[in-house]
Amino acid sequence: MGVIDTLNRPLRNLRISVTDRCNLRCTYCMPAEIFGPNYKFLETDKLLSFEEIGTLAASFSHLGVNKIRLTGGEPLLRRNLPQLLSILAEIPGITDIALTTNGILLPKLAEELKRSGLNRVNISLDSLDEETFRRMNGRNVSPEAVLKGINSAREAGLGVKINSVVKKGSNEHQVRALAEYFFHMGITVRFIEFMDVGSTNNWQAESVSVMEEMLKQISSWKDIEPIKGEFGEVAKRYRYTGTDREVGFISSISESFCSSCTRARISAEGKLYTCLFTDSGHDLKELLKQGYTELQLSDRLAELWKVRDDKYSEERMNRKQKRNKVEMSYIGG
Ligand code: GTP
Ligand code: 5AD
Ligand code: SF4
Ligand code: SF4
Repeated sequence: MGVIDTLNRPLRNLRISVTDRCNLRCTYCMPAEIFGPNYKFLETDKLLSFEEIGTLAASFSHLGVNKIRLTGGEPLLRRNLPQLLSILAEIPGITDIALTTNGILLPKLAEELKRSGLNRVNISLDSLDEETFRRMNGRNVSPEAVLKGINSAREAGLGVKINSVVKKGSNEHQVRALAEYFFHMGITVRFIEFMDVGSTNNWQAESVSVMEEMLKQISSWKDIEPIKGEFGEVAKRYRYTGTDREVGFISSISESFCSSCTRARISAEGKLYTCLFTDSGHDLKELLKQGYTELQLSDRLAELWKVRDDKYSEERMNRKQKRNKVEMSYIGG
């Protein structure tokens, strides 16, 4: 049974955060000054268990969800993650299981994750330049560590795409180098406009490198042409002319994509968010504690989706009221 919201958008994708912790401190996501030793992360006993995640995912599948993405923080920090993949892979109707990661732990985990049912990974890498990347990730980690993770994922047979957040004054000079490098490797990079998620990343409109500027940098090197993506896809896709290789742009700021937003999100503690930029969620862990069955949960989720009217990116510049938005590391992007 499918379900649509007030803007006619079906529910198709479920993004599940499995931890709010991360081993990096990217300036645009978890600035080290804020996410320091005294930052209060979720207590382990507050996290959804794998069994609970499995029940929720199954109830979402009854409503038309066929894609699941695991996120964090850094999802590979969650203990025994392959066990969760085995549970999700068993759910009828789930045809695509993906994960968004910084890649550092992939050399250890890629093979086991693939064996347990993971199909693909999106790996974040914002710069190939040593100094720029070390500064941007806040933990002085070299790009080499991520490149090793990328290779492990490919060797394990996982689908791989790269995510690069582009921030003016930090890494906008890296767009062409990243495009060239991954073109030669036959891997798609998506360049992401720096977004105003949460309230700690000091977002300013002036720091956003917009899609048009990034497109120019790439097309001055090689011809590209737009291609049609799938319904609900966040990236605008381009093909390098005369090849089967692609590059993409995620332009939440300059060209929003709310009208086809089919994504629901669950935080690591079990709250449902119907938009990346909302300030409050619905407590699903509480429903699980009350003993809701898979089908009762589906009914409740359908009710919540039917009243959904979020379209933050479309309204961003005209909003008068400030929101107390949740952090990216909490909601998983
Ligand atoms: P694919 O299924 O491989 O296309 O993955 P994805 O791009 O949907 O997921 P990923 O976690 O790789 O996210 C890439 C970027 O898109 C991140 O910066 C996300 O925060 C952003 N993003 C994903 N979904 C949304 C959305 O619904 N709204 C906005 N504004 N940004 C989103
Ligand atoms: N704006 C855009 N993308 C972001 N990400 C994290 N913070 C931001 C932000 N402020 C990206 C990460 C990762 C994905 C989950 O979201 O780089 O690829
Ligand atoms: Fe960690 Fe990803 Fe956020 Fe960077 S963007 S701090 S790797 S969760
Ligand atoms: Fe969906 Fe909200 Fe992103 Fe718009 S801003 S695409 S409604 S998550």
